[in-house]
Amino acid sequence: MSEGTIALVTGANKGIGYEIAAGLGALGWRVGVGARDGQRREAAVAKLRAAGVDAFGVPLDVTDDASVTAAVRLLAEQAGGLDVLVNNAGVTGGMPQQPGGADVATVRAAVEVNVIGVIRVTEAMLPLLRRSAAPRIVNMSSGVGSLARQSASVGEEQTGPLSVAYAPSKSMLNAVTIQYARALAGTNILINAGCPGFTATDLNGFRGVRTPQQGAAIGIRLATLPDDGPTGGFFEDAGVVPW
Ligand SMILES: NC(=O)c1ccc[n+]([C@@H]2O[C@H](COP(=O)([O-])OP(=O)(O)OC[C@H]3O[C@@H](n4cnc5c(N)ncnc54)[C@H](OP(=O)(O)O)[C@@H]3O)[C@@H](O)[C@H]2O)c1
Repeated sequence: MSEGTIALVTGANKGIGYEIAAGLGALGWRVGVGARDGQRREAAVAKLRAAGVDAFGVPLDVTDDASVTAAVRLLAEQAGGLDVLVNNAGVTGGMPQQPGGADVATVRAAVEVNVIGVIRVTEAMLPLLRRSAAPRIVNMSSGVGSLARQSASVGEEQTGPLSVAYAPSKSMLNAVTIQYARALAGTNILINAGCPGFTATDLNGFRGVRTPQQGAAIGIRLATLPDDGPTGGFFEDAGVVPW
């Protein structure tokens, strides 16, 4: 991993994604700021560039086939390829989502971005990643997606509010991560899931207890793994997260 490395971070206009972009940019990497809204994207690019990051905007709505196809073209034709993909864009899907009072539209919205969006972007970017010398894929998941933690008894490692949308969408994202790791075993592509911890962002009305910079640290670590680093794992700052 060296200067000249090209990364794409989805949902990089704010929150944890912005800080992952800033952290990778500080390494001297070129960073594509994936964002669906033009104004928010350009504001983030301008802020990153003012901080010395070689940032460029990538119009990207992870729920839209045409948008993702255009992003691949932009990376291939204007950036010269892709080495590292950080699938960070995520939504809660909205409320309510407690079992017994859930709205299925909420479930669909969470799965559409957090799972199908990741698969759509990963499938589209794989041909570019395969041409890289050291490709990495990072899926920003959540400890609330851990089945072990969801099913732990109170007082153990039980986590997150009751949810049939956001938490299960991250459980599925974890399974998707394992499936890609199995398919990519024997290649130089490392793919892992990361949990940023409970971070103060728009996603939770800024109730999180970690800063976005702290939340970004695991994403940056998994994006910069050495060639002999892990694949098919789930990690937070403190180490391995149980599936
Ligand atoms: N915050 C936490 O405590 C926490 C904990 C565990 C995991 N995570 C995960 O960390 C990741 C980042 O979350 P965050 O806390 O930084 O949330 P955030 O501040 O709400 O940022 C989410 C980002 O995703 C983007 N996004 C949403 N839908 C999109 C779409 N269809 N296409 C492209 N981009 C889209 C948003 O763009 P717009 O500005 O256009 O909406 C925004 O840039 C998510 O995957 C989240 O699930 C967060």
